[in-house]
Amino acid sequence: MKEIKIEATLFVFERLDELPKAIQSLMQVAIKAREQAYAPYSKFNVGAAILLDNGEVIIGSNQENASYPSGLCAERTAIYYAGAKYPDVKIVQMAISAASKRIQTTKPIPPCGACRQAIAEYETKQNTPIEIYFMGETGAVMKSNSLSDLLPLTFDKSQL
Ligand code: THU
Repeated sequence: MKEIKIEATLFVFERLDELPKAIQSLMQVAIKAREQAYAPYSKFNVGAAILLDNGEVIIGSNQENASYPSGLCAERTAIYYAGAKYPDVKIVQMAISAASKRIQTTKPIPPCGACRQAIAEYETKQNTPIEIYFMGETGAVMKSNSLSDLLPLTFDKSQL
């Protein structure tokens, strides 16, 4: 038997204004996208903003459905749109903000497992890390230098 230790480094910024101005702006775009989420069932609004290598910013927000599993998270809405619109342009950063209409979210809210898997696909495809910044409605922002820090032992095309 062999033990394997998996380590990841994440960065925590106590407030959004501790981050570089450009990231603050990207997060503000995610916050605006969050406010346009369609989440009548969960009342949990999520917004994502993706900065592409060509300078374009692509947004997404969660889109729910009366048939619950047919809905989609903000991160995948955004990344699939980026992939559809600019298939050959690299993704540089993603900013995510989540806010509940029931309680105040003051802690960073990370992307769900399915979204991590979707983001991993694009990181593998472009062979360049994607920086991910995530927060709740207020408070601290967490930063991951690469999706792989959020999803160790990623399943990817090399295993097919
Ligand atoms: N949601 C996201 O948009 N992103 C995540 O990473 C986690 C969850 C959405 C899906 C659903 O509309 C609502 O939040 C509650 O799960």
